[in-house]
Amino acid sequence: MSRSIAGRFRARPHSNPLSDQKLDYPLSPQAMNWKTVFTASQLEHPVPEWLDLGCGYGGLLEALGPRFPQTHIIGIEIRPKVVDYVRDRVERLRTGAILPAQYTLPDPSAPAEQPKPAAAAKAQGKRYQRIQQDPNHRRAALPVPADLTPPPPPPLPAPMGTPILVGNPPAPYRWDNIAAIHSNGMKYLPNFFAKGSLSKVFVLFPDPHWKRHNLRRRIISPALLMEYAYVMREGGLMYTITDVDELHVWMDRCLAEHPLFERVPQQELEQDPCYALIWHSTADAERAVRKCLNKYPAVYRRVAPGQKAVSIPPTGIWASEVMQEAVLDEGDEDD
Ligand SMILES: C[S@@+](CC[C@H](N)C(=O)[O-])C[C@H]1O[C@@H](n2cnc3c(N)ncnc32)[C@H](O)[C@@H]1O
Repeated sequence: MSRSIAGRFRARPHSNPLSDQKLDYPLSPQAMNWKTVFTASQLEHPVPEWLDLGCGYGGLLEALGPRFPQTHIIGIEIRPKVVDYVRDRVERLRTGAILPAQYTLPDPSAPAEQPKPAAAAKAQGKRYQRIQQDPNHRRAALPVPADLTPPPPPPLPAPMGTPILVGNPPAPYRWDNIAAIHSNGMKYLPNFFAKGSLSKVFVLFPDPHWKRHNLRRRIISPALLMEYAYVMREGGLMYTITDVDELHVWMDRCLAEHPLFERVPQQELEQDPCYALIWHSTADAERAVRKCLNKYPAVYRRVAPGQKAVSIPPTGIWASEVMQEAVLDEGDEDD
């Protein structure tokens, strides 16, 4: 982000997802006119199929758009200035005023992005040390297994030339299939998206909400997964990735225990171009590399009721004392 742009679009680092912000939303998905969002789309009804939930500065949208030009992809972001930034950037990509981000090889003198066991990563992290010392921080949720180590990062996505749409005649790509809206993805998804309409949902580097009384603000929870499952089609994929081991354990467990989500085998992920993009394409993905943090991915498939092959015995995250306490706690203090 250039300095002038960063200044113009500077936003608070957090926005409370539980507050009653005044936000516009359609009464039902049928009332949503996506043409007002995908203004440059050639389609009369450009209904999005993929969702980047908490899209931040839109790095994933920018990476996916030209690689999947036939798919409409929407980002939902709760901080209005950040949405303005994404819109401005898409507009300037469209007019050719800027070029899309490319993935450059890291500086050879920088430490390589090599996953290390969670315990070792944690010991090095200043953030963890600071949190451990905070007397108000009661370590949340689920313990991190001592041997938790993420898979190795997939190779960087190949650099892109100017994408050309296949057709007769072939046409240049116009950045018309990506957009961002200002909304709260924890509250209004069923207003925007019809049942079974999304085939991919991305939740990349979500806010960790460390403190126990803030667990209810996490964007993945057993209750919210019900909503995500509702708007996703059977066979659709939910991609998560984080640099916080504890949050990974939480998200992975919520998904593993859910009757409508089944883990996607690692072998299958290695063939999936979206899997590489979730590791490398966003501002927070780059930040994790700069800070030498591990990245922990978890990808799950939305399955039909009763179709889940392996049933994971629930640890009862939702009913657990930790979650009850989080729900009942009135504390409104931010992380
Ligand atoms: C840590 S940032 C990650 C941004 C981006 N996905 C990335 O990887 O760089 C999390 C983003 O989610 C947004 N967010 C948090 N809660 C949200 C909600 N309920 N609805 C929409 N966006 C939300 C935040 O404003 C923030 O931009």
